[in-house]
Amino acid sequence: MSYRFDGKRAIVTGASSGIGRGIALRFAELGVKVVLSARRKGELEKVAQEIRVKGGQAVVATADVTSPEDVAAVVQTAVDELGGVDIMANCAGVAGPMTFEETPPERIRQHIEVNYLGAVEFVRNVLPLMKSQESGYIVSISSMSGLKGLPTYVSYGASKFALTGFSDALRHEVKKYGIQMSVAAPPAVHTPMVDDHLESHADWFHKFKIMEVDKVVDRLIAGMSKGRFLILVSTDTKFMYAMVRHFPRAFTRLMMWFYGMEK
Ligand SMILES: NC(=O)c1ccc[n+]([C@@H]2O[C@H](COP(=O)([O-])OP(=O)(O)OC[C@H]3O[C@@H](n4cnc5c(N)ncnc54)[C@H](OP(=O)(O)O)[C@@H]3O)[C@@H](O)[C@H]2O)c1
Repeated sequence: MSYRFDGKRAIVTGASSGIGRGIALRFAELGVKVVLSARRKGELEKVAQEIRVKGGQAVVATADVTSPEDVAAVVQTAVDELGGVDIMANCAGVAGPMTFEETPPERIRQHIEVNYLGAVEFVRNVLPLMKSQESGYIVSISSMSGLKGLPTYVSYGASKFALTGFSDALRHEVKKYGIQMSVAAPPAVHTPMVDDHLESHADWFHKFKIMEVDKVVDRLIAGMSKGRFLILVSTDTKFMYAMVRHFPRAFTRLMMWFYGMEK
């Protein structure tokens, strides 16, 4: 059965920028009422305004996902302003290419606290609501590095593996309440997160085909409509993941060559 977006109520984290912003705008076009969350109020207000001029409904709720109090307040805002939560979209994240040796301990902690625990805290808060209404959809933006260990994404990848594993296990527990879960695994996408590193890592970023946010959102919506758990958003990532599963040694050799890391 295909998922219907029209009339649903969503919380979108990371809505001030990049993929989260793109998802929030598309949700609104599909008739979803959205709570936009992130730390930068000004950026969230701009997204809200874009939605409102097109006739959509958007509420701004600033939060740092590492603060349980902030997270609870965002969910309460959704209840107060929209009457509940049908879709929880976990998009907030921090990243940047860095070898493990270059990664300071506080950055490792931040990857886990924002990319993994931040999403978990939102899920913890929305689950009772979704359980009581016997429906809900939780979608989280993981990464290709949350499916296969990739050099220079050691600490980031670990946080995304955690998010993927959490979602994969939890979906079996919540299915009986009518709650669906998806994880999207985008490759490199043109957002401030990647654009900030295009120059400093030009030597290998130029090897990637970098996707546009709109395309990622197209595939995400198509995947959610079909209720797919793992949403691989490009032909390249589908190929890569098929290689990882069926030809893991060949993939590893190819990856080491690609990264210029073969001995
Ligand atoms: N771009 C890619 O190539 C790529 C590939 C695979 C997966 N992803 C994942 O996609 C998601 C979105 O990334 P993006 O590329 O769109 O990056 P982005 O443009 O830098 O957006 C990151 C978002 O996360 C929010 N955020 C960061 N730290 C936060 C915190 N402590 N509390 C609340 N919000 C926080 C930021 O908002 P504020 O600064 O306003 O708080 C911003 O809205 C991330 O989970 C990322 O890991 C990205």
